[in-house]
Amino acid sequence: MQFRSRVIGCGAYLPERILTNAELAQRIDTSDEWIVQRTGIRQRHIAAEGELCSDLARRAAQRALADAGVAGSELDLLILATTTPDNTFPATAAKVQAQLGMTTGCAFDIQAVCSGFVYGLAVADNFIKAGQARSAMVIGAETFSRILDWQDRGTCVLFGDGAGAVVLRAAPLEGPHDRGILSTHLHSDGRDYKMLYVDGGPSSTQTAGVVHMDGREVFRNAVNRLAEAVDEALLANRLSAADIDWLVPHQANRRIIDSMGKKLGLDGRKVVVTIDRHANTSAASIPLALAEAAGDGRIQPGHLVLMEAMGGGLTWGASLVRW
Ligand code: ACO
Repeated sequence: MQFRSRVIGCGAYLPERILTNAELAQRIDTSDEWIVQRTGIRQRHIAAEGELCSDLARRAAQRALADAGVAGSELDLLILATTTPDNTFPATAAKVQAQLGMTTGCAFDIQAVCSGFVYGLAVADNFIKAGQARSAMVIGAETFSRILDWQDRGTCVLFGDGAGAVVLRAAPLEGPHDRGILSTHLHSDGRDYKMLYVDGGPSSTQTAGVVHMDGREVFRNAVNRLAEAVDEALLANRLSAADIDWLVPHQANRRIIDSMGKKLGLDGRKVVVTIDRHANTSAASIPLALAEAAGDGRIQPGHLVLMEAMGGGLTWGASLVRW
């Protein structure tokens, strides 16, 4: 029997503390006007002292389980996409697995920076299609604030902390129009490693390091590569941009999001935007946006949802889901 991965629940969690652009402007040479104009960001959430990636992930996962009406013990696969794990090892996913009461199957982390959620979704989908998992949790969770140089105005204004999660369930495949993940498309090109990287790590400096970025180059690459991945996803499913009900993009920059919406000819109201309130939460941004738009009733069963993301590596990808 063939299976399709159906999304049966979503959840999100944002730390309580909100850091506004105005507060940042008191600490570094920046302004609300510059940040809003260049990025669309107005504020970001910051994890409290002692609040870890696993704490954010657990809360989002618990909400996704409640939304799906599934117990943690029913899961047989847990994938946590993160750039900011609690520890170098074990995987933060294993900690969350225990916290959710999941004792069978397997749990592991995935590292694809801002593309992490799309990567996690692809891996979970392939497990389900191969018959190796029946109930999967994919989480994107980040405490990006811990790997920022708070004196570098070129990067620290861009990111925030948060987590989002989805629960997938194997459903017997009856036809190409069945609800569930239609396809996933992943890419990476390590030649662009230095365009966006962290200058630390266990094997190099034995410290976590901080983010460095060539913002203009990342911007240029994002626009081109995301467009290619989106075209690939539509072509693979013989669909056109007119079929899309919702674009749920990685939230890195409002201008990148708008240019993708424009390229697809989408009405702005069909694009889910959270960057103004969440900033760039890396692997968490897409599941946070999904939870928001599914939670407030915008995304409805049967809608065609397109997700796309690009991040350090470089990594990028897209996925089409019939909700
Ligand atoms: N406040 C005020 N001025 C600033 C700030 C700031 N926060 N940051 C930079 N500037 C200044 C620069 O110093 C520069 O000044 P100069 O002309 O005197 O040298 C000027 O603004 C223009 O700088 P640019 O970097 O050229 O500005 P740009 O228009 O490219 O915008 C930005 C910068 C917002 C970072 C943009 O390039 C961008 O969004 N790039 C994509 C970044 C991105 O998506 N990153 C996430 C990738 S996903 C992941 O994996 C993490």
